[in-house]
Amino acid sequence: MKDLYAVIGTPIQHSKSPQIHQAFAEQTGEEIHYDRILGQPERLPLYIKTFREMRGLGLNVTVPLKEEAFQLANERSDRAERAGAVNTLILLEDGRLQGDNTDGIGLVRDLALNNGFNFKGKRVLILGAGGAVRGVVQPLMEQGIGEMVIANRTLSKAETVATLFADLGSIKSCALDAITGEFDLIINGTAAGLSGALPAIPDGILAKGGWCYDMVYGDKPTAFVKWSKEQGATKSLDGLGMLVEQAAESFYLWRDVRPETAPVIQMLRG
Ligand code: ATR
Repeated sequence: MKDLYAVIGTPIQHSKSPQIHQAFAEQTGEEIHYDRILGQPERLPLYIKTFREMRGLGLNVTVPLKEEAFQLANERSDRAERAGAVNTLILLEDGRLQGDNTDGIGLVRDLALNNGFNFKGKRVLILGAGGAVRGVVQPLMEQGIGEMVIANRTLSKAETVATLFADLGSIKSCALDAITGEFDLIINGTAAGLSGALPAIPDGILAKGGWCYDMVYGDKPTAFVKWSKEQGATKSLDGLGMLVEQAAESFYLWRDVRPETAPVIQMLRG
């Protein structure tokens, strides 16, 4: 019988994770089966118990269960602790749950390794201050960013996140309409794109040669990717590469084998 893994969340039907992990398994020769589970937060403990009884070994956790998974984990990595969210669960043999968060490293790898972005000393703007943003601040700051500005529609939330990570370097906060100066990299971590909207941001905030990254992806260019092209971005990337990279890091945690991501990204773009 193949080792069992799954992704759990709501909605889940369109999740690309099964396809991604199956591709990793074929590429590395690992014998795994990867499912998708439709799940609500209040039932997460029950799903995990049942999954364990089915001899499941690991779960990817997605919206809206990442905070609940964080609460349930018996031990957590430093990056999960900082993120306040868990996207990867390891079901240990002794019955305990180990929680990690691979979203941030996924974003960093896609930018740095797949696309060649050099973070050193750069001015980086992050739009949004929800769970998605909280998951990526630490891994980004660890790349040696010069200054980070977190801008959010609700200013108080941006202030809270900036304070939470203040020990990692220069992190400022502001409201979306108060963004000033120019940035080498603008990352959209708001949920605006999910409804096809663009966060209300001023024009002229992207430095010459600057890059833009939308943590969301779609079959068509997102509103933020379109905006970034209009602003003359050197690169306008969506979150598909991040999705594959966070999956690769989870696969590595579970199997101790690091799959190649480029062919899988290419397959999904195909
Ligand atoms: P997630 O886990 O995806 O981060 P979340 O924690 O609900 O979800 O956070 C959603 C983020 O998207 C928030 O920063 C939210 O701004 P507010 O804090 O002001 O609510 C942001 N957001 C959602 N819709 C938006 C829109 N239309 N324009 C700008 N920001 C938006």
